[in-house]
Amino acid sequence: MKLQLLPFLGLLSALSYTSAAQNLICYYDSASYLRQGLAKMFKSDLELALEFCTHLVYGYAGMKAGTYELFSLNVDLDMFHYKEITSLHQKFPHLKILLSVGGDHDVDDAHPNKYIEFLEANRTVQQNFIDSSMILLKRNGFDGLDLAFQFPKNKPRKVHGSIGSVWKKFKKLFTGDYIVDPQAEQHKTQFTDLVGNLKNAFRTANLMLTLTVLPNVNSTWYFNVNKLHPQVDYINLAAFDFNTPLRNPEEADYTAPIFFLDEQNRLPHLNVEFQINYWLQNHCPANKLNLGIASYGRGWKLTTDSGLSGLPVVPGTYGPAPGGLQIASVEGLFSWPEICAKLAKNSSAVYRGENAPLRKVTDLTQKYGNYALRPANEEGEHGMWLSFDDPDFAGIKAAYAKGKGLGGMAIFDVTYDDFRGLCTGQKFPTIRSIKYFMG
Ligand SMILES: *[C@@H]1O[C@H](CO)[C@@H](O)[C@H](O)[C@H]1NC(C)=O
Ligand SMILES: *[C@@H]1O[C@H](CO)[C@@H](O)[C@H](O)[C@H]1NC(C)=O
Ligand SMILES: *[C@@H]1O[C@H](CO)[C@@H](O)[C@H](O)[C@H]1NC(C)=O
Repeated sequence: MKLQLLPFLGLLSALSYTSAAQNLICYYDSASYLRQGLAKMFKSDLELALEFCTHLVYGYAGMKAGTYELFSLNVDLDMFHYKEITSLHQKFPHLKILLSVGGDHDVDDAHPNKYIEFLEANRTVQQNFIDSSMILLKRNGFDGLDLAFQFPKNKPRKVHGSIGSVWKKFKKLFTGDYIVDPQAEQHKTQFTDLVGNLKNAFRTANLMLTLTVLPNVNSTWYFNVNKLHPQVDYINLAAFDFNTPLRNPEEADYTAPIFFLDEQNRLPHLNVEFQINYWLQNHCPANKLNLGIASYGRGWKLTTDSGLSGLPVVPGTYGPAPGGLQIASVEGLFSWPEICAKLAKNSSAVYRGENAPLRKVTDLTQKYGNYALRPANEEGEHGMWLSFDDPDFAGIKAAYAKGKGLGGMAIFDVTYDDFRGLCTGQKFPTIRSIKYFMG
């Protein structure tokens, strides 16, 4: 037995040596600078994370409707903050700093489809975007541009629950009228052309170009993998938020499972493995892919119809759980330190009621994710179900990415990690765990 095992172990360590994941892409939402209280992150907090990050992605810039120039979504902040952040080059010479455009943050109610309209525009108009990007990036000392392009999203799984009508209007708000792009094929070609033109311009200017595939943007529809991967430095797959309380108000499920759990009519593409394999099967080199994870969790409100077990798929939920003080503008979103503060430290604690802690359920299979819950009380109040990647599960995903030979990991984003060390005293536990398991 020993004799057989030894060469096998040798092979394993050789493999893990050559396939060591290198990249840790850290997204940084500059809006965190404007948050209140404990959520406000200063440059000094950020610097601690940069010991671990290879790339810092500054989020987010926008694209101006009509002229399609790259522009700052918050001029008052950015006009100083861009340079403040890129000046981190001096302290961290290894660090690449990119500016990201889109990222689901460029919300323009008057022009909800401007990214698609831009693709359909002529070459002259597209040149505006290319030229304005190069000027903005160079003037502010960025190393390149990250295209977190806002394509129309997959529609969520349909549910025919008793409270369906309540959510009907609400759903429309987030997914349009369920019309998913009839011209997807054309937009795919146009996007490939755009990326080619951007790359040509950026090459001579010595600027990097990277791609972020946003949650629920369907790669089959929009990305010509074969033609895209040679044009970009790397691709970050934001493989999370497959299920969210805003998209799936009436049922709660793992937000970012690694594998497909083929039960209860789950859709086969809503998991990490499917998304990674799609790019690999279409000949994207593994080392150009970074697996993106969220350092926040999503919370649903449980009702008396949701039962007590919490086993997903959880029925009878009622949209986002209230709370989530850090990002008050996104209902049902909880940063890791906020989640940590809600978890029971004591198994004999009460398990229902407003002030009861949430009981954490650890996924011993290490395949789907951890969650925590507090069942609703008899009046149907104070129920909550949270799905999240805690530092442990982030580590499991990092080990998975390494096993797949991927280029590395991307964290969305550093400002939702526990940068104050409120949970266990350790600052940036999610980033540390990822780094540790990437090896
Ligand atoms: C390109 O589109 C813009 C805006 O629609 C238009 O003003 C311009 O004339 C077009 N240029 C060419 C060469 O077609
Ligand atoms: C895109 O959506 C279709 C239809 O829902 C699905 O079959 C396909 O697997 C999806 N592709 C990816 C990469 O998720
Ligand atoms: C656990 O909680 C119960 C009830 O709140 C309390 O009586 C007990 O002292 C706690 N135990 C520990 C170890 O904190």
